[in-house]
Amino acid sequence: MVKRPSVMMGAALWLAASCVVGAAEVVPNEIMMPGTQPEDNVNFESPDRCDNCHGGYDEARVYSNEPAYGWRGSAMGNAGRDPIFWATLAIAEQDFDGVGDLCIRCHSAGGWYAGRSTPTDGSGLQAADDDGIDCDTCHKSTNPDNSEHVGIMNPPFVANDGLEGYYGSGMLSIWGSADKLGPYDNADARHQ
Ligand code: HEC
Ligand code: HEC
Ligand code: HEC
Repeated sequence: MVKRPSVMMGAALWLAASCVVGAAEVVPNEIMMPGTQPEDNVNFESPDRCDNCHGGYDEARVYSNEPAYGWRGSAMGNAGRDPIFWATLAIAEQDFDGVGDLCIRCHSAGGWYAGRSTPTDGSGLQAADDDGIDCDTCHKSTNPDNSEHVGIMNPPFVANDGLEGYYGSGMLSIWGSADKLGPYDNADARHQ
């Protein structure tokens, strides 16, 4: 006969589960870093919209040149969907309450810039935030030292120290306008 957990054991498990510390509602100072911040009012367009024009034209499904096709299967496009990521974020949260905000900054960029990274366990994110590194994350990124396009950076989190700017670790500076930034100087698109 299969042994069932006793009522006492069930109660103990319930108690243990309900003792897990809740995620932070306020991002701890220790993990705040320069660059465009959630309150800087950046909204990324859904990659579904880019697909309309930047997908579905290259029939070769192996080594496709389409930006949309490659992105859909990439680690970046799935960075906010990956269950291993969410498992490790939960463990990190237990070590340092609130650190999840730092993870979400890179693993669900659209959700972070839209201000949905608190509670820091990711429970405030929307379904579309699963997209991880959206097309706009890269195609609206600018140089932190404003040497190319001026990004949105409000004090005290300006990624520009007046000399070089801070680079790396997700401290992106995001171009504030709707334009897409890309490799061509002669692109003829319906978007800017
Ligand atoms: C600066 C950006 C950045 C931050 C911040 C960040 N990550 Fe990542 N993470 C990445 C990148 C890039 C990869 C892919 C690395 C690779 O493939 O070599 C990755 C990969 C991972 C993976 C591997 C996923 C897999 O399925 O193999 C895990 C797990 C992970 N990150 C967890 C976390 C956790 C937890 C945090 C917060 C404590 C965090 N990350 C913060 C950029 C970041
Ligand atoms: C991780 C950053 C990153 C992401 C995410 C990303 N791109 Fe790009 N994309 C680039 C870079 C870098 C280039 C320039 C490549 C070059 O110059 O060879 C580029 C080039 C392009 C180009 C012009 C090249 C061409 O195909 O003729 C288009 C269009 C484009 N991307 C669209 C998209 C779309 C749509 C998505 C989302 C489905 C996307 N990108 C996601 C970094 C990214
Ligand atoms: C209505 C169709 C359409 C949609 C939707 C669309 N694009 Fe484009 N995009 C174009 C066309 C057309 C070009 C220019 C191609 C050329 O000149 O060869 C272009 C060019 C680009 C470039 C290259 C720009 C440059 O200066 O190098 C990038 C990057 C890009 N698009 C990103 C995106 C992203 C990201 C999205 C979704 C948020 C998107 N596009 C949605 C039609 C579209």
